[in-house]
Amino acid sequence: MEYNIAVIKGDGIGPEVVDSAIEILKFIGDKYGHRFIFNEALAGGAAYDKYKDPLPMETINICKNSKAVLFGAVGGPKWDSLPREKRPEKAILGLRKELGLYANLRPGILFEPLKDASPLRLDIIKDGFDILVIRELTGGIYFGEKGFKDTDMGKAAYDIEIYSEKEVERIARIAFQLAMKRNKKITSVDKSNVLESSRLWRRIVDKVSKDYPDIHLDHMYVDNASMQVIRDPSSFDIILTSNMFGDILSDEISILTGSIGILPSASLGKGNRGIYEPIHGSAPDIAGKNKANPIAAILSAAMMLDYSLGLKEEALAIENAVNKALRENYRTMDIAKKGETAIGTKKMTNIIKGNI
Ligand code: IPM
Ligand code: MG
Repeated sequence: MEYNIAVIKGDGIGPEVVDSAIEILKFIGDKYGHRFIFNEALAGGAAYDKYKDPLPMETINICKNSKAVLFGAVGGPKWDSLPREKRPEKAILGLRKELGLYANLRPGILFEPLKDASPLRLDIIKDGFDILVIRELTGGIYFGEKGFKDTDMGKAAYDIEIYSEKEVERIARIAFQLAMKRNKKITSVDKSNVLESSRLWRRIVDKVSKDYPDIHLDHMYVDNASMQVIRDPSSFDIILTSNMFGDILSDEISILTGSIGILPSASLGKGNRGIYEPIHGSAPDIAGKNKANPIAAILSAAMMLDYSLGLKEEALAIENAVNKALRENYRTMDIAKKGETAIGTKKMTNIIKGNI
């Protein structure tokens, strides 16, 4: 089979980790008899530098004409002083919105060989954990009305958190459907003791839960949730939450696994098309130095094979190859222990390829 895949390498370490993912995909293609056609498009700071636009129309079109989008990372100090509409972040936010990708899946799994890289005590993580954060991605405070106004305290800025019943219902349904395939347990995280939008969120999640009587649903305030994931991460399975809370909680959970450099993500909507990206950022400080961990990008490619292309066996082959590299103690800088020698991006990619 032939598959069109849009590739947006982006800024910072984006290009090098996406190159690693492409190398692995090509290898998988040869081995399993698929042809992946990679259509490269510019977005983020790289697109701003060339077109003065972080998300050119051409890029949106390339993505719309592809089965899936493989994304690196965008942003960096070079573009930090630009106005909001020109900033590199506009690229990823705009793409999520344009492609209607309202569901962000962020697995936080503790890989057994990385237990000692976790900042948590061994007695807390002895049984491991496997959390799936399901973050609403095209609503809430990210996309609500924003602006400035004059007040008697001087100039003020505002961003409105707003959720409609339909927006909550569709993300909740994704969570309940995925929960049926996992441990039938959802923790919905909100701040309904303070926010009206959270009260609507909780009411709709409760309503959807009536259609899934087998699933155990809890509600938790976000402040408490951010503490509980550290106290006992294994008590969580699916965390269902809003755009803003999901952004924060997913970074927190990622570091509990040892490094933000190993976690992939999928952003999905109605059809099979999705954006697949590491949850880490562009790490400009180590860009171009062959130091970045390519695992998050490689596992993002595996998620793409699974969710958008339906190639489950191939996805599993990549996951197993990554696991093996970690079991054999290969470590990039971010997951190496003090005194351990770290390998570079390219070496890690080769080791993983060799394991497939
Ligand atoms: C993420 C990132 C983005 C977000 C930024 C780069 C706009 O932090 O994917 O988590 O806030 O969604
Ligand atoms: Mg984030």
